[in-house]
Amino acid sequence: MNSNYKYTTFTNEKQITDAVRCIAKQIETEYKGKQPILIGVLKGAFIFMADLVRAVDLPLEVDFISVSSYGDSTESCGKVKLDKDISSNVTGRDVIIVEDIIDTGITTTFIKKHIEECKPASLKICCLLDKPSRRTADIDIDYKGITVPDKFLIGYGLDYGQKHRNLNTICCLEFEDE
Ligand code: IMP
Ligand code: MG
Repeated sequence: MNSNYKYTTFTNEKQITDAVRCIAKQIETEYKGKQPILIGVLKGAFIFMADLVRAVDLPLEVDFISVSSYGDSTESCGKVKLDKDISSNVTGRDVIIVEDIIDTGITTTFIKKHIEECKPASLKICCLLDKPSRRTADIDIDYKGITVPDKFLIGYGLDYGQKHRNLNTICCLEFEDE
């Protein structure tokens, strides 16, 4: 991990709130009369998840899954490991997977396949940030907040080497010359 870096705001609090509310309203409309279960992908989605579920006026349930792929660098190792499985029975349920950011799409594809094995009634994908430029997996995103360029982002749940998840804004990380 390179410790010589700075960061600048990429998405401010208002832009984040607007994006979260917009997704929440779509979910509220499309799941009217239903009781979806939202599965947050740890650790990155924990702040987005907390804001999203409070903006959705539905009798929803929450669960969490934890996977690792990135290690402590800015590049994915391309392999995904299940660290913590969901604890709910999602068979026959309307499930929404909630991601912080979809980059290559490898993580989401892994989680989607894993949840599909439980035979949910429906399965949709939601992410706050979509980084399509590096996508290698063919994935349909049902609810997305902000499309971002190929930059490494931190804050609002996203980390660099497990740090900076507690920033209120989403920032762009820039490495400085030694
Ligand atoms: P993917 O498998 O390449 O789509 O990566 C998904 C995961 O990688 C996300 O859930 C994040 O944890 C992490 N990730 C991807 N891009 C970034 C970034 O710009 N900042 C922080 N984490 C990222
Ligand atoms: Mg991460």
